[in-house]
Amino acid sequence: MKKIIIAAVSKNNVLGKDGKIPWHSKEELQHFKKNTIGFPVIMGRKTWEAIGKPLEGRLNIVVTGNKDFQTSFHEVVIFYSLQHALDFCKTSIYEKVYIIGGGEIFNQVINEADEMIISEMNFETEGDVYFPEIDGTKWQLDSNELFTDFTVHHYIRR
Ligand SMILES: NC(=O)c1ccc[n+]([C@@H]2O[C@H](COP(=O)([O-])OP(=O)(O)OC[C@H]3O[C@@H](n4cnc5c(N)ncnc54)[C@H](OP(=O)(O)O)[C@@H]3O)[C@@H](O)[C@H]2O)c1
Repeated sequence: MKKIIIAAVSKNNVLGKDGKIPWHSKEELQHFKKNTIGFPVIMGRKTWEAIGKPLEGRLNIVVTGNKDFQTSFHEVVIFYSLQHALDFCKTSIYEKVYIIGGGEIFNQVINEADEMIISEMNFETEGDVYFPEIDGTKWQLDSNELFTDFTVHHYIRR
């Protein structure tokens, strides 16, 4: 099972600000949906709260350390450890799992993910959550795809 990080970052590596993504790009959301549809998506509890409802057509997996955490959405699966969430996906029928954020989750998986699909927006912005540094000795840039508001960089592990 491939573990794929998918994220959108500003030119200065911002992922989020005040619990939200500080831009809106319909085209980028379409790109995100096109890639992730049909596959499990793993997210941290704060990202879950930012999205506010399950992403349709995908198995939504939320990780939290809070055993009291609950959601009224039956289609959401909760794990109390990121490793347990990944282990669960390994034993499933899925050939890929997408790790969709946020910063805390990306920091923990960047050293074990197999691929990264990073949308680099065409601007800088202020933020309080950043994508981790991409180590060029561990990651190879495989392709770039140009969109109107952003460029998608596809990285594969060396
Ligand atoms: N631009 C993008 O592509 C993108 C994507 C996703 C999110 N975002 C933005 O990023 C920000 C959120 O990121 P964040 O770093 O603050 O939070 P986050 O990674 O979304 O969630 C952090 C939470 O996840 C849980 N968690 C983390 N590691 C865990 C582990 N190993 N086991 C169990 N639970 C674990 C904890 O929940 P508990 O506190 O409940 O224990 C922790 O507080 C928001 O601004 C959001 O909009 C941007």
